[in-house]
Amino acid sequence: MRILLAILFLALLSPAASAGDSDLARTPPMGWNSWNQFNCRISDKLIRRTADEMASNGMRDAGYVYLTIDDCWQGQRDASGVLHPSDKFPDMKALGDYIHGKGLKFGIYSSPGPTTCMGRPGSLDHEEQDAKMFASWGVDYLKYDWCGARKLYKIEDMPRLYAKMHDALRRTDRPIVYSLCQYGWGGVWTWGASVGGNLWRTTEDISASFESIAHRGFAQSGLEQYAGPGHWNDPDMLEVGNGDLTLEENRFHISLWSMLAAPLIAGNDLVSMDDETLGVLTNREVLAIDQDALGKQARRIKQAGPMSIWLKPLADGSYAVGFFSTSERELAGSITLKELGLPRKASVRDLWAKRDLGVVNDKLEATPSRHGVVLLKVTPLH
Ligand code: GLA
Repeated sequence: MRILLAILFLALLSPAASAGDSDLARTPPMGWNSWNQFNCRISDKLIRRTADEMASNGMRDAGYVYLTIDDCWQGQRDASGVLHPSDKFPDMKALGDYIHGKGLKFGIYSSPGPTTCMGRPGSLDHEEQDAKMFASWGVDYLKYDWCGARKLYKIEDMPRLYAKMHDALRRTDRPIVYSLCQYGWGGVWTWGASVGGNLWRTTEDISASFESIAHRGFAQSGLEQYAGPGHWNDPDMLEVGNGDLTLEENRFHISLWSMLAAPLIAGNDLVSMDDETLGVLTNREVLAIDQDALGKQARRIKQAGPMSIWLKPLADGSYAVGFFSTSERELAGSITLKELGLPRKASVRDLWAKRDLGVVNDKLEATPSRHGVVLLKVTPLH
C-alpha cells in the first residue's frame, strides 16, 4: 500500500514524466524559420546567408540557435522511396554542416500526410526512411505539419501519427526537437507531450498584424498548466520585423511570447533587418523572462478594458509582470501587489527602459503606448 501511494505521489509530482525526450527543450526553443517572410522563396543560399547573420549579428549568442527550413525544400520521392530536395538545395548534408559550423542547429519540416500544405511530398508511410535521412543530414529539429493528412485522417488519428514519427526519430539516436504543427486542434496540449512533442502549435497561422498577434497570445490564457520544461505551448512563430508592425507592436509581441514561455522563432529577413528590430529580438533581459529555468507560463491576472495584466513567476523568486495594451492611444493601468498575490513591498525594474524604478509598497502603475507594453521585473522584499 505504502509503495503504491509513493508511486501515485511521484506520478502526480511529475506531469511531464511522459514528455518526449526530456533533456531537449528544457527552455522554450529559440531560432529562425523561413516561412513567415519567405514562404516558398527559399534556397541553400538564403539559408546560408541567414546562418551567417545569426552567427554574427548577436542573435545566436542571445539564444537563437535553431535554423529551420520550412515547407518547399522538397523535390520528389524516387522509386526506392528516397525523398530528394528540390534543385534549390543541392546538398542538404553540406548545408547542415555549414549551419553547425556557425554554432547553430539545423531544423527541417515535413508532414504526417501524403503532402505538405504547399503540395510537396510528406512523410506518410516513409517515416522511418525520412527520419534516418534527416538524422544523416544532421537535423536537430523537426516541425511536423498536419496539413495534407487532413484529407485522409481524422483528429482522433493525430496522436497515433505524431507518435509514429516520434518513434522513428528516437530510433535514429539523434536528439531531435519535435515540433507538432496542427493548429491546436483536438486539444493537443493534453496529449502533445505523451506523443513526444517538445512544443505544439495552439493556434491557426499567425500573420504580421497586431490583431493576429494579440489574439493568438491572449488565447494562451488557461493553457498555462500544460507548459513546462521539455514541452511548450506554441502560439506560432514571431512576426517581429515583418509587415508594418511598429516598434511598440514588435515589443508587445516578443514580451507577450516571453511571458508565455513560448518558443521564440524569428521569421523576418535578417539580412535587411534594421538595428531597432535587432534590438527588439535581442533584449537579453526580456529573453531571460522567456528562458527562465522555472519554465512557468504567465497567467492573466486582470483585464481592464483594453489593458491586460499578466504574471509569470521566475526561478530566482521574483516575478515578471506585463501590462499589455490594445488601446489605440496611450493608456494608464495599475494593479495592487495584493491583486498579484505578492508581498506588500517590492523593487521594480522596467525591462524595456532598462531602468530600476525603485521600491513600491502598494501597487504597480504603467502607461503603455498605443498597442504597447510595459514589462516589469518585480522582486519581493521581505
Ligand atoms: C502551415 C503551417 C505554417 C507553415 C505552412 C507551410 O500553414 O501552420 O507554419 O509551415 O504550413 O506550408
